[in-house]
Amino acid sequence: MVIDMSKKFKIPRGTSDILPQESLVWQDLEKKARKILNLYNYREIRTPIFEETDLFARSMGQTSDVVQKQMLNLTSQRLDEKGHIQLSGLSLRPENTASVVRSYIENSFDKKESLSRLFYLGPMFRGERPQKGRLRQFHQIGVEAIGPGSSSPYLDAEVIALCVNMLKSFGLKKFELKINTLGTLACKNNIHDRLIGCIEPRVDRLCDDCKERYIRNVFRVLDCKKNSCKSVIKAIAFGKDWLDEESLQYYEQVKTALAELDISYTEDPSLVRGLDYYTHTVFEVSDASLGSQDALGAGGRYNHLVSQLGGPQVDAVGFAVGVERILLAKQGSDNESEEDLDLYFLAIEETCVNEIFQMAEQVRRSWKGAPESLSVGINYQVSSMKSQMRAANKARARFVAIYGLDEKRQGKIKLKNMETGAEQDIPKEEFIEKFNAAIIEPGIKE
Ligand code: HAM
Repeated sequence: MVIDMSKKFKIPRGTSDILPQESLVWQDLEKKARKILNLYNYREIRTPIFEETDLFARSMGQTSDVVQKQMLNLTSQRLDEKGHIQLSGLSLRPENTASVVRSYIENSFDKKESLSRLFYLGPMFRGERPQKGRLRQFHQIGVEAIGPGSSSPYLDAEVIALCVNMLKSFGLKKFELKINTLGTLACKNNIHDRLIGCIEPRVDRLCDDCKERYIRNVFRVLDCKKNSCKSVIKAIAFGKDWLDEESLQYYEQVKTALAELDISYTEDPSLVRGLDYYTHTVFEVSDASLGSQDALGAGGRYNHLVSQLGGPQVDAVGFAVGVERILLAKQGSDNESEEDLDLYFLAIEETCVNEIFQMAEQVRRSWKGAPESLSVGINYQVSSMKSQMRAANKARARFVAIYGLDEKRQGKIKLKNMETGAEQDIPKEEFIEKFNAAIIEPGIKE
């Protein structure tokens, strides 16, 4: 292989760097997510970012768009003395439900507990055509509640409430929750046949993609955003008679439980979701201001997936939200993070650097965990006071510790509160104690 040594590298299409300033916002989101997931008793699971391709094909369905068009398959070539050996059959995960179920089965969770409440945070990969809100590497926060103890409509309502409350905890206010039911597996098959029947006379009005979807997976036609397809979907007369008594009753119980939790929703009979594994409840949370990629998160019940993948017959329900879309929805509202630095040391003279270098480390070591985190920085670029204060502002420091020749002579360090402008000369030996007090009780008096 010839390597072009002059080539300038660019980030792969449909991916993004999360730069330090943004990563603070990500950390904040993850922190809020973990807090609410803990509140609902979910425990974290981390699965590999790639799995056997067949796992995804068998769970999401051979005919789903994700499996048909968006899988990023790994083919690595290893040279041995006889030539090339191809290792294949693995794909980057396009979602995490299948992987969690694979792990649930492999680790016999059902033998250990009746309901496993699992959550994950991490990157997913889909080979889509990138656009606003649609990436090739994106991040999900998701939950899966799996096990014999998961077959209650209360759990559907609880999972939906968790999704809504999580989005609210991120500061989002104007999103819409849509719900629907696909009923039992038998009902879902019935809906499939009815859809085929309803759309058949109007197939020629569908876009080219949907003509193909009509044959491959008619449910996906209902997800199409093109006007021609939307008008075909609008004309479909969904009826309660598409569902059996058991499914209708289950759905009623979910809706009653949602009302008891004060969760407002809209019913949308055309919401079916493009992944094969769903039965009964399906839901989606969207924010119209995001344009065509408006789904912030989605999920539903999947009672047959565990057994289909070779595990026990246990029910399950879950959802995943897309982090990038949440951040897009938050844009313009409150995504400004707070200060980056709690304390920034400035040396006014080159001969003062060594002492602040040591002092900064002592402050770090003295930190006892309250407030929750502390960050201490130093400016090693000794220059005028004015330009160093500019650097402190740029670093968005909450406090600045100034050490120059005057301070050295007096054995003091000047501590400045950047928000109030208040300054205090503190004897060096008292600095750690006084700084710790100031950061907990920020009002430094002059
Ligand atoms: P999904 O609807 O395919 O469901 O994805 C969930 C969320 O991930 C979407 O609502 C969206 O916010 C985000 N998302 C999906 N694709 C992209 C993309 N290309 N770029 C940016 N964001 C994206 C699932 O993945 C199911 N596993 C959810 C689930 C969990 N159902 C049951 N348990």
